[in-house]
This record gives sequence, structure tokens and C-alpha cells, in this order.
Amino acid sequence: MGRAFKQGPGPVRPSAKEEAVVATARAQFERTLVSVRGDVVGSMAALGHPSKRDSANYSEVFVRDNVPVMLYLLLKGRYGIVRHFLTVCLDLQSSTYQTRGIFPTSFVEEHGVLVADYGQRSIGRITSVDGSLWWPVLCWLYVQRSGDHSFGVSQQVQRGVQLLLDLVLHPTFEGTPVLFVPDCAFMIDRPMDVWGAPLDVEVLLFGCLRSCCHLMELARQSSMSRLLDQRLVLTHQWVHDLRSFLLKHYWVTSKTIQVLRRRPTEQYGEHQRENEFNVQPQVVPAWLQDWLNHRGGYLIGNMRTGRPDFRFYSLGNSLACLFGLLTPPQQRALFRLVLHNREHLMAQMPMRICHPPMDLEEWRNKTGSDPKNWPWSYHNGGHWPSLLWYLGGAILLHEQQHPQADVLLMGQMNALLEECYWSQLNQLPRQQWAEYFDGPTGSWMGQQARTHQTWTIVGFLLLHHLLRVAPADVSLLDLERSPPPYQRGP
Ligand code: GLC
Repeated sequence: MGRAFKQGPGPVRPSAKEEAVVATARAQFERTLVSVRGDVVGSMAALGHPSKRDSANYSEVFVRDNVPVMLYLLLKGRYGIVRHFLTVCLDLQSSTYQTRGIFPTSFVEEHGVLVADYGQRSIGRITSVDGSLWWPVLCWLYVQRSGDHSFGVSQQVQRGVQLLLDLVLHPTFEGTPVLFVPDCAFMIDRPMDVWGAPLDVEVLLFGCLRSCCHLMELARQSSMSRLLDQRLVLTHQWVHDLRSFLLKHYWVTSKTIQVLRRRPTEQYGEHQRENEFNVQPQVVPAWLQDWLNHRGGYLIGNMRTGRPDFRFYSLGNSLACLFGLLTPPQQRALFRLVLHNREHLMAQMPMRICHPPMDLEEWRNKTGSDPKNWPWSYHNGGHWPSLLWYLGGAILLHEQQHPQADVLLMGQMNALLEECYWSQLNQLPRQQWAEYFDGPTGSWMGQQARTHQTWTIVGFLLLHHLLRVAPADVSLLDLERSPPPYQRGP
């Protein structure tokens, strides 16, 4: 794809106002914290609303939006808030038969009580799965960082884990280890043709199952249980199968695409296994040629019979690095791809949520003519500042774990990250910490964007923390570390 859009020099210039911007962001962040009966239960999604009407649900506490919030609070040692948030989510874990075990998408206080939304009140009425998959990840990171093992092994946590696992580890019509979901079931919560096994969900499932294993292993250290042993064997196997599945069917490089284009089709039976999803070579899009370049690689957005989704999703790919789903060389191939396509992925406002956007007929058919997901807007190729820190975390964690590997590439990645950080620092305060940005360069504030969006603010603060305050803290995000020996109390 041609280098059509240049990153202008303006937004990337270092600013003398760094400290002032960080101080403002910190103050804004404090304002997002919501207290119920004297205790903080999390952050509301946004402080501002463009039309100032109170109709949208941005004053609710979304579990997914609180992921960076809780990680930031962990880094600041504010463990009590994180523990309380995790407990509130457990209290709100669904107990009705059809949805038993799922965590709410969001919750809000109404007349003194917390009311959860599992999707029944959201636009489109879709139950999302990502908040549920995030919960064990957050719980494990909390236990690990705070040393509060007694919370990790508590009956309430262990029961919550088992209820959640019941939703995944059961026989289905699908013989594959992926979790099948409808369109709109995660951060992308409006129709975007992301039904089936979208990358973001499957990578999160991987992180979720890994974290569940850690929490169960911790419990096993303090009490023996045959049930737990069986559950652990099954979960470990699932993690292994899921990873193999994703690496086999989602990972692409210039080399694998060339093999893929020349595979036989219409295969069946035990022995014909080169093209299990019967993908016709014609579906491989032409833009992939330049996008992948020679040494780039990434996980595609979805694999479905005959219809893979080749779009690039920033969150799923960044998380695949952070969670250790991708091997170290694959992670570096992904970094090369980001570098090669930086005018697209970063442009003026890092970083684009997915690429390329759907246009014309495709937009009409696949989004149901959704005006919010207009090409280059919102989920359809829009730029979300909240996504940058995930990639930043992936780069910094990789460097910490493999300090000697490809020093030249990692130097370039660090420079890229630094410029993206300046780009946000210079623009976000002026653009009121908007939720998302529109257009191919991402320089226009999103047409319907909320302002003072919490994960925009806290994503920036997280990046600031990892780049300036305590770079070693990136190890917080490492899911591969095994549980420490059991200790009572924090
Ligand atoms: C929008 C986004 C969703 C987010 C929510 C609250 O619905 O699509 O990902 O969680 O706003 O910010």
C-alpha cells in the first residue's frame, strides 16, 4: 500500500509542557473514579459528552474500559481499589441460567444499588464477552503484584473462576478450541463483521485461560482437590490447543501467504489437510503484498470457512505479544510490520483500531449502513489513542525479556514509541482527551467522540509511567511468570 499519508512534524515535537500535561491528566483521572457507599468501584467511561445530553451510557463503569484503569492503580500501589473492583464484579457475575458465569459489560449505581448490564440494555442488545475474559487476567495481575494470595485462593474468587470456565470448557458443535461469538461482542460493539472467532476475543481467551490456570495453581498449593487437578489438566490442554490453532490459522507472513495462494481447494477427509477452511486464493487481498513487506507478520482478524478476515486489529496483535502467544521472533516480525505501515497505523493520532476500513457496498452490507462506523471513523478504521499503550507495553516487555535481540529494530521501535507519545502529549489536551479520531490521518476529533474519555487519559498515563517513571514496571504485564509460593495475607 502506497505511503500516502505522512506523519507531520508538528505533533511529534518534544514539548516543554510535559509535566503540566501529566499533572492535568492525573487530575482528570481522579475525577473519573466513582464511589458507591464510600468505596471506589471503578472509573466511569467518560467525563464529557459532545451534546451534553445525559442519554448515553458513558457514565457507567465498563469492565473493559477499566482494564487500563486497574493496571494503572496497581502500578501506583492503590491495591484496595483494585480488590474492591474485582469483588464488585464477582458480586455482579450473572447467576441466571442462560448467562450464568458472565461478568457484566458495565454497571452503574441506581438509587444506592449497583445495576449490571450484560448487554440487555446496550445498543443492539449484544452480550459482550471481553469483560468476562479480562476479569481473571486482572485478578491474577492483582494477586501477583499486591501479594494478596489469600484473595486469590478465597472461595469467592475460585468459585468465580470455575463459573467462568464452565462457559468455555464444555462440549460444543465446534470441534475447535476457539470461542464462538456473535458480531459486536467485544470492544468493537457495533456491527463490523467480526462474528465467529475474532482475534481480539481469541487472544483474550488465551490470556484468560492462562490466568485461570495461575489462580487454580495457587489454590492447589494450599489445598488438594481432585476436581481442581482435573480442571487444571483440561485448561492447560485448552490453552495449548488454542495457541497452536491461532498460530497455524491466523499467523501470516509474506511466505505463508505465498503458500496459501497455491494450496489446493475442495479438500476433505483425514489426509487432505493443507486447506482445512477451503479458502480460495482469490480472497487474499492485494493490499497484503505491500502491507506484509518482506519480513513482517501479523495475526489476521478471523478465520471462518471460506472467508478469513485479513484486516489488521491492533488490540489483538498487541495482546498476543503481551500474553506471550506469539513467539519472540514473531513478535519482532509484528514490530517490523508496524514500522513499515506506521503512516497508516499511527498517522497523526496513534493508533488505528483496524485496517483497512470497509467502504461503499461492503460498509453498507457488513455494518448495516452504520453511520457511526463510516469509513475511517470509530471502529471502522478510526484512531483510538487508548490503544497505543498496549503496543507500547508489548515493545517494552519484549525489550526487557530479550535485551540482546535485534538491537537495531528495537531501537527503531523505541523511537517510534517516543514519537507517538509526543504526538499524543501535544494533541490530546487540545483535543480534550477525545475517545477516537477520524479520517485516514486521524487528525480530526471523532465526529461523535466523547471528550475526556477515561481510557484515553489513563492510557496516556500508563505510557508515561512505562516510559518515564518506572520502565521496569512493564513486568507487571507478564502473564508467563508462574505463581509464587503461597503466602497468607497481603
Ligand atoms: C463504546 C465502545 C466500547 C466502550 C464503550 C465505553 O461503546 O465501542 O468499546 O467500552 O464505548 O467507552
